[in-house]
Amino acid sequence: MSDHGIPVRRMPFTVPDDGAFHPLYIAGHPVASYQMTGLGLYVALLEPFIVKSVRRVLDCVSDPALREAADRFCRQEAQHYQQHERFNAMVFGAGYPGLRERYELLRTDFDGFLADRDDRFRIGFVEGFEANTSQGALRLLGSGALRHPKTDKALGALWEWHMLEEIEHRNVAFDLYQHLFGGWLYRARMCWVAQHHMARFIDDCTAIMLPVDVARHGPACALTAGQRLQRLLMRMVPRVKSMLPRYTPHRYQLPDSVTQLSAKLSAQATSVS
Ligand SMILES: [Fe+2]
Ligand SMILES: [Fe+2]
Repeated sequence: MSDHGIPVRRMPFTVPDDGAFHPLYIAGHPVASYQMTGLGLYVALLEPFIVKSVRRVLDCVSDPALREAADRFCRQEAQHYQQHERFNAMVFGAGYPGLRERYELLRTDFDGFLADRDDRFRIGFVEGFEANTSQGALRLLGSGALRHPKTDKALGALWEWHMLEEIEHRNVAFDLYQHLFGGWLYRARMCWVAQHHMARFIDDCTAIMLPVDVARHGPACALTAGQRLQRLLMRMVPRVKSMLPRYTPHRYQLPDSVTQLSAKLSAQATSVS
């Protein structure tokens, strides 16, 4: 691992053949599966936005260590969205009327943020997203769901790598926001804005996919009222936590399994820098 703890890996993932996509690919669990499918679609457009937003402010970062970490953060995110684009092609290929249109609408949101908003909004938005994913990544890796016998191996491996790297770069957006802008209230507001934006997109994708999947794969793909409540809690707890004045990702205690996974993925990578 690099001195920064943010190694940039190129991974040799193989996208499953056409027709192999089953919507309940994470442990056969509809909440987890639809959440991650929506997230995979979201990050393919969010992460290019992250890279562009952070690169625009790099010259304003006076701390060399933070500048290096921010550069590595961008390079990790660039690997993520390139890999997700390949897997997302499989999702689109499964045929969901309206899904591509919703995805293109998301693209116009990020294009608008790049054109019309200022650096504080953009870096705040990036931090709002990262504050959510670092918590979600720790929870998901700790749950064992990505290695469940019912989890698709290729998609489980993709998410395991992505979630691990979200943990590795968990401090960068927070430190960048504090270094450039500081303060609590606007950062808290952007946590709400970014995490609500993501949740709305994922819910829209889920609503598009569910009726198609129930018709194709049966009622196991439907979400019960209890599962919808579980989804809401799964989102609101990290959102509220990240909005608190004393929130910082620096306090997370990482289990040994994260360090072990980091080393294992570096060994599997085709290159690490
Ligand atoms: Fe990422
Ligand atoms: Fe990230």
